[in-house]
Order: sequence, then C-alpha cells, then structure tokens
Amino acid sequence: MAGQLGVAVVGCGYWGMNYVRVYSELPDARVVCVCDQRQERLEEVSRRFPGVHVTSQLDSALQQDGVEAVIVCTNATTHYAVTHRALMAGKHVLVEKPLTTASVEAERLIELAASKSAVLMVGHTFVYNAGIHKMKEYVEAGRDQVYYLYSSRTNLGPIRTDVNALWDLAPHDVAIFNYLLDSTPRWVSAVGAKVLRNCREDVGFISLGYKGDRMDIVGHIHVSWADPHKARELVVVGSDRRVVFDDLNGIEQVRVFEKGVKATPAEPVTYGEYRLQIRDGDIVSPRLEVSEPLKNQCRHFLECITSGAVPITSARDGEQVVKVLEAIDRSLTLRGAPVEVMEDISNEHWKQSA
Ligand SMILES: NC(=O)c1ccc[n+]([C@@H]2O[C@H](COP(=O)([O-])OP(=O)(O)OC[C@H]3O[C@@H](n4cnc5c(N)ncnc54)[C@H](O)[C@@H]3O)[C@@H](O)[C@H]2O)c1
Repeated sequence: MAGQLGVAVVGCGYWGMNYVRVYSELPDARVVCVCDQRQERLEEVSRRFPGVHVTSQLDSALQQDGVEAVIVCTNATTHYAVTHRALMAGKHVLVEKPLTTASVEAERLIELAASKSAVLMVGHTFVYNAGIHKMKEYVEAGRDQVYYLYSSRTNLGPIRTDVNALWDLAPHDVAIFNYLLDSTPRWVSAVGAKVLRNCREDVGFISLGYKGDRMDIVGHIHVSWADPHKARELVVVGSDRRVVFDDLNGIEQVRVFEKGVKATPAEPVTYGEYRLQIRDGDIVSPRLEVSEPLKNQCRHFLECITSGAVPITSARDGEQVVKVLEAIDRSLTLRGAPVEVMEDISNEHWKQSA
C-alpha cells in the first residue's frame, strides 16, 4: 500500500460506482472509503469491493485514516456543499460535472482550494477521450477553418430530479466545444420544453457564439430526456473536412469526410466577388488509442496531486461551463433571446467598487 494515494468516493449511484472500480484498478491509488446516503448502494459496494469502508456520513468518510483525496459524485445541486466540506477538511477534490449549479459557488470553491493548496478538478470526462483528442488534432491542424459545430445528446432519460436536462447533459458538450476551440462562448441562445410535464425542461436547443481568430464560430447543442433515439454525436464542419465523433460507434468512433467548400477570391473579377471551391476526398476512420476516458481522468487527478500541476480540466474550466449554463437559464426565460455569458463577476464587482 506504500505510495498509494487514499481515495474516498462520495456519492455512489450509477456513475460513482465506476469511480470505485477505476480507482480499485489503478496501482497508485486505494479506495479507502465510500459514502452514500442510500444503504442499498453501500451494500452493493461491500459486496463488490470487500475491504472498502462504507458510511452514510460525510464527516466520517472525511475522517477515515488515509483519505487524502475525495471524488464528489453526488447529485449536481449538492456538489458545492460536499466539496466545500471536503476542502475544509484539507482534501484534494475531483468533482463531477457540473462543478456547481451557481458560478458564485464555483468561485468560492476555487478560492478555498487555493487557500488550502489543494487540487480542485472537474470531471469533464470527454476531455480525456481519445476520440475527442483526435477531433482536436483535426481542428488544430493547419489551414482548415472551422465553420460551425453541433452535437446531439438524446435518450429516454435518465431523468434527474434536481436539475433540468440542459444542466444535466449540456455541460459535456460545452466543455468539449470549449476544449476544441480553446475558447469560451460570448453569447448563448436557448429554448426548452417540458414535454414530460414535470417541473423542469427535459428538451433543449442551445446556440452558442464563439469569437474565432478568422471568423466567429457558431455552435449548437441539442439535449433531450424524451427521445427514444439515443445519440451521443458531435460534428465539426470546416472548410476542408467534416469530422464526426460518435461515442456510440465502438468501431469507428471518429469519421473524417475529406470534403468541404470554401469561398476563394475569383480571378480576374471585381473586388468582393468570391468563387466557391469544392473539395471532394476520402472518408477516413483514424486509428484511436484504446483507453477508458474515466480512467485517464482519474490517473490525471493523481498526477496533479503528486506533481502540483494544474488539471487539464481545472475548476476554472468548470466555472466557465457553469457560467454558460447560467446564461442558458437566462435565455430560456426570455424564450431564446441571445444572452451574453457573464465575464468574471467578481472582477466586475471589484472594478465597480474600486
Ligand atoms: N462524467 C460523466 O460522464 C457522467 C455520467 C453520469 C453522471 N455524471 C455525474 O455524476 C453525478 C452523479 O450522477 P449519477 O448518475 O451517479 O446519479 P445517481 O442519482 O445515480 O447517484 C447519486 C448518488 O449520490 C448520493 N448522494 C446524494 N447526496 C449525497 C450526500 N450528501 N452524501 C452522500 N451521498 C449522497 C445518492 O444517494 C445517490 O446514490 C452527477 O453530478 C452527474 O452529473 C457524470
């Protein structure tokens, strides 16, 4: 056990159990404790992972001997309170997405983590996905101009009782778009529907505006808990190619269509006239490194703790995504009117009061 970092997993529902499995498999870590409010989940942990201490009390988990790092995998609206307590207890924390459900809370956690010299990381799992890495290679490779990108994340549920489908599903896509474009959106526009007649949106259509180097880039995200067709697809359309990521396609997760259209200045005609140049080429499925994204993410968290490096998915990145979701909320209430994504509120506040 020497050299192994002690981990506690707080929240062991559908997704949390994956963290228990992954950390049990990593040689540099040891799952010391699992905390969940549901007794049946603790029984399941004891059955599958004998030797792991189980408790329904967060403080008891935080006080267990050997716990240095905490994974927060509870329902979204509890992320802030649980993470705050873990940081106060001097632990490094990896929080599932969304980091919090309010950006002021995210800011408080970032400050608290800094004051404790603790690593605070958000679980934007797709940033650790080999297919998304391949997409980024194409986006960054040379002369290709990204025109726009769009994604679909639909299924029948699972329906959450604390956040709507946009807060539940869109953090993945916003985090991927931000990562691919190395940027954050300036504005959003969102409409939603409550088709299942519960009190929160179960369907959403979100547009996002990014500032690009050469031209502004529009993104679009469709999420739904009410669509019998399960989709986990993201498409980047560029001047030279179209790149598709399909998380449900186990054989060809990324497909590249070497086709595109671009406007080139026509010769020898008058200023401002353009000619459309069409490119038609192969359809390629690039070879991808075989790795489990969650395991890559968990390993990276350990590396950041031992090296002191800032995580690839830092709490700041998590906060940016939360700000986008807050703007989406504002646009929803305005039935799709474009809303600016708030710049750093604390900075604005500081500037006004200075
Ligand atoms: N990164 C991904 O791909 C991915 C996938 C699924 C879920 N998630 C995220 O993981 C989190 C959990 O999702 P899930 O699908 O496992 O939900 P879930 O409802 O199945 O599990 C949540 C668990 O947390 C427990 N819990 C809640 N508050 C608690 C507290 N204060 N102390 C201890 N236990 C508590 C509940 O009893 C429950 O068992 C969410 O934030 C979700 O957004 C991420």
